[in-house]
Amino acid sequence: MSPFDSNSLRTQFPALTQHVNGKPAVFLDAPGGTQVPQRVINAMSEYLAFSNANTHGAFATSIRTERIIHEARSAAADLLGCTPDEVAFGANMTSLTFAISRAIGREIKVGDEIIVTDLDHDANIAPWQALEEHGAIIRVAPICKENCVLNTQALLELLCPKTKLVAIGMASNSVGSINDIDCIIRAAHKVGALVYVDAVHYAPHGLIDVKKLDCDFLACSAYKFFGPHVGLVYGKKDHMQRFLPYKVRPASDNTPDRWETGTQNHEGLAGFIAAVDYLADVGRSYGAEIPKEYPHESERRISLISGMQAIRQYEHKLAKQLVKGLLDINGLTFYGIKDFEQFTHRVPTVSIRIATKAPRDVAEILGQEGFFVWDGNYYALSLSEQLGVEPTGGMVRIGLVHYNTAYEIDRLLETLGNQIK
Ligand SMILES: Cc1ncc(COP(=O)(O)O)c(C=O)c1O
Repeated sequence: MSPFDSNSLRTQFPALTQHVNGKPAVFLDAPGGTQVPQRVINAMSEYLAFSNANTHGAFATSIRTERIIHEARSAAADLLGCTPDEVAFGANMTSLTFAISRAIGREIKVGDEIIVTDLDHDANIAPWQALEEHGAIIRVAPICKENCVLNTQALLELLCPKTKLVAIGMASNSVGSINDIDCIIRAAHKVGALVYVDAVHYAPHGLIDVKKLDCDFLACSAYKFFGPHVGLVYGKKDHMQRFLPYKVRPASDNTPDRWETGTQNHEGLAGFIAAVDYLADVGRSYGAEIPKEYPHESERRISLISGMQAIRQYEHKLAKQLVKGLLDINGLTFYGIKDFEQFTHRVPTVSIRIATKAPRDVAEILGQEGFFVWDGNYYALSLSEQLGVEPTGGMVRIGLVHYNTAYEIDRLLETLGNQIK
């Protein structure tokens, strides 16, 4: 195995070569969307140049388009550890989650309970809250404010025979905490509840294995893991067949097509395949040998497993460097897990505030220096409200992925220390 070489991988991402005011751009905005390797751009433009068509035609471009859809499903299966017919594509995670929640809503009765959390992005809260129209009661699991992790015990205590669904995130897009979803899924199933997992923020940082997790649904978005703006949702085959989607009459009733309303983003699917292949190549180049617990997986799935392990290890080091440096800056409030011993429970996404400046001002100053960071609530509205920062501009989010480097973090810490007094 070669040592992880972020600088070499970076050469595949044209966007990373940009400058702002003469300084190299530093992309710390990944939680809102990552940059893409050249192969994703090539795949999308090649599709548009030579295969651009709708499906079900008797001619070459339409046949090629169907082949790409088929390949995208098999790439999704390798990415998530499921079968190709258990994944539906759509515009984005939010639209897919509303589609699934509306379908589940058809079976919701007055007094049924749904659990959401204060840690989640609103895309895994609002679609479930909408089911109040059917008489559902929404229960909200709180966070532990001191380290911004989900209060798992409090969530478990909300479970009861009336619970029909638990909507939970794998990792917080605001403060990076990873939830103990194994334990939550097991407990939810014991009371007969479904579990809908938002894996959007976790996907670029670690392996997803829906079969091991045993979740009922899991959604993510390719633009958060080095691909284009395409969403995907996994659903256990039985659920994908049993629940009734809202769809037009002539469209196929086969699974997963029945969940894919209208014409899909075919160029996006071509780019999605390239993004999955990119991650598999990270494993082929830098991954450790995979333990024998995966004897039946495809070569690409095995490479993805080792690629995501390599990425996680590299990001772990970056996260330590970033958090240690931030904690040394006077007048900075840090939100989230800061105890290194607990770093296996976080991804390298952090939120901060500077005592003397509004989050937007901090983001603007950093922006002028070439550092791309987000400010606000990033749609993790409940968390921002719980932390009391919502009325004053939220927080500043620094989000690392594997194309970030130790050098970039040093530069950021120096700029924060010098410029923001
Ligand atoms: C954790 C999380 N969930 C859901 C979403 C919504 O994803 P999409 O834009 O694909 O609807 C985001 C986007 O920021 C997110 O970070």
